[in-house]
Amino acid sequence: MSVNSKTHELKQRMQLVLQGGGEKAVEKQKAIGKLTARERILELLDEGSFHEYDLFVQHSGRDFDMDKKILPGDGVVTGTGTINGYPVCIYAQDFTVAGGSLGFMHAKKICKIMDHAMKLKTPIIGINDSGGARIQEGVNALSGYGDIFYRNTMASGVIPQISVILGPCAGGAVYSPALTDFVFVVDKISKMFITGPDVIKTVLGEEISQEDLGGARVHAEVSGNAHFFAESEQECFDQIKNLFTYIPWNNDKKAEPFPAKKPRSKEYKISSVFPSDPAKPYDVRHIIKSIVDNSEFLEVQELFAPNIVIGFARINGETVGFVANQPIALAGVLDCNSSDKAARFIRFCDAFNIPLVTLEDLPGYLPGIDQEHAGVIRHGAKILYAYSEATVPKITVILRKAYGGGYIAMCSSHLKADFVFAWPTAEIAVMGPEGAANIIFRSEIMKSENPEKTRKEKIEEYKQKFANPYVAASYGYVDAVIQPNETRDYISHALEICKNKTQENPKKKHGLPPF
Ligand code: HXC
Repeated sequence: MSVNSKTHELKQRMQLVLQGGGEKAVEKQKAIGKLTARERILELLDEGSFHEYDLFVQHSGRDFDMDKKILPGDGVVTGTGTINGYPVCIYAQDFTVAGGSLGFMHAKKICKIMDHAMKLKTPIIGINDSGGARIQEGVNALSGYGDIFYRNTMASGVIPQISVILGPCAGGAVYSPALTDFVFVVDKISKMFITGPDVIKTVLGEEISQEDLGGARVHAEVSGNAHFFAESEQECFDQIKNLFTYIPWNNDKKAEPFPAKKPRSKEYKISSVFPSDPAKPYDVRHIIKSIVDNSEFLEVQELFAPNIVIGFARINGETVGFVANQPIALAGVLDCNSSDKAARFIRFCDAFNIPLVTLEDLPGYLPGIDQEHAGVIRHGAKILYAYSEATVPKITVILRKAYGGGYIAMCSSHLKADFVFAWPTAEIAVMGPEGAANIIFRSEIMKSENPEKTRKEKIEEYKQKFANPYVAASYGYVDAVIQPNETRDYISHALEICKNKTQENPKKKHGLPPF
């Protein structure tokens, strides 16, 4: 065979694989607004950077006439490329080939690219679009999932792991995304559930559509499984590229610095949003934007547990992770979901060398039978654990309320914040003045000739005594009481001072966070 005919043969072989499941299957995919697996990869990666591997892998199914079937690439595309100029490993399941179902060799391809990612210390991106375990391959398909979950776990905290759900992701398959750091979903396209509507109807008699059970919005708003929600695949890819500007490539590195920029102070001013009446709510995202470079804030899990705000921004060009109580949602209380949300984010930042900035304004943990029974003790403990364990620079600013357990939990000096600043409007106390006065002055109020007047006086007395930052400052729990317009300056100075921070926790196999 001449060189020419050999290169021709390669081209022909490649063409067969690159057509995936064929024209009809591709058309079906397009008709519902989906790109093909390779198109997705090309859209996401830097132009011309994608190199595909294991094109000629064949499936190993022998039963149910599978030995007569050709499944190009075994239904998954794997390779390497770059995003914003930095290397990534990637795989995308190809729904046009046997519904992207995961057989033994399909899983082997995924595991191989995951192993590359770990060896080369690059992020791994998985695009999920699959009918789940390949039914014809039985336990060999299940074994593939086990191999992937194990690798997800080993890679956790070493390299960033991104899951993109661009089609069905059903059954046990959902647990790979659940083990990764960020899950991206697209409206009307993503579907995630352990058991689908049919099984639910059979077992429980309940009827529900796929969309209402596990559509993108459900996971972004209700279950909290998704971190980023997009209206289209293109918007989703833009979100991923943007996220990669904030995070490092692995746990040995810091996020790439950007040129420092001042906040857009005409649009975002603390004084224009922070109310003089302490009972009034405000949007803490406005405060964040008034502090950070170019007022750019990438919010994570924006639609889930909105009583806490988490996300990335830059101060003097360096990435920081923000955790902030949100007074416009449930007064910014900590509850089961917001504790889960914050704790996981804190641990991501700590694992990947991203300093944490906490903005505090909360009345405490949410009281109530529902919360107690849902495990607010267990979930609430996660945030304490995550902050205590974190060794990255930790800077806290108390804007207003810092009551009770909330004061401790939101990265107080007791959980080893490096710097705690408080605005003059801060109220640091065991509980709000109204509640406190009613308890400690109850008999005086009851005995009074004018109980209402006495109650008001006692509330005022309590406010004067404790609802301010100066008692905490007198014990050194607050490092400085600062003017609100000095916040960026104090945070950026603290970040600078903390640059060489080294802190080691006690040696152990691993801790036991309250999972
Ligand atoms: C083999 C599969 C498959 C699977 C889909 N296909 N899922 N083949 N194993 N799991 C094939 C179909 O036979 C079909 O092949 C092609 O993919 C396209 O599927 P359609 O059904 O035509 O597509 P659509 O109508 O869009 O429906 C998509 C779907 C549906 C909702 C995902 O295919 C479905 O319900 N699939 C089964 C889902 C499931 O129960 N999976 C097992 C989960 S258990 P042809 O040749 O006709 O084109 C599991 C355990 C993992 O995953 C445990 C790990 C711990």
